[in-house]
Amino acid sequence: MPLLIWGAMFEVGVKDIDAQHKRLFDMANQLADAVRVGKGHEVIGEVLTDLVRYTQTHFSFEEQLMSQYGYPAAAEHRQKHQDLVQQVGEFKRRFQAGDAPVVDEALRFFTEWLSSHIMNIDKAFARDLKSKGVQ
Ligand SMILES: [Fe+2]
Ligand SMILES: [Fe+2]
Repeated sequence: MPLLIWGAMFEVGVKDIDAQHKRLFDMANQLADAVRVGKGHEVIGEVLTDLVRYTQTHFSFEEQLMSQYGYPAAAEHRQKHQDLVQQVGEFKRRFQAGDAPVVDEALRFFTEWLSSHIMNIDKAFARDLKSKGVQ
């Protein structure tokens, strides 16, 4: 069963950002599936690494738009991204050190963080972008 189900409530209304969020949902669900069907440590590690990497790509994309459009709350938003990267990096270190069950905790943390971040922080950012003509 997927952990995250994409729906209109998560749409921020900026096309590229929505597409990237949807992909993050898909990747988190892929990781959950890999854990559920009992994939090995190496495979789960790869899926986890892909998720972390794409999360960073997505954050860089948003941060680039913040600079480009002079978003007033950029510093706070960037800080939230950095905190998440640090937290997920810690989970990943624990996983690689042999703590396999930490993936469940990491997934729970990540999906809660992502839903709430999109609904609040990214929606506020997208409102600003849309007011500046970004679609
Ligand atoms: Fe964000
Ligand atoms: Fe985002």
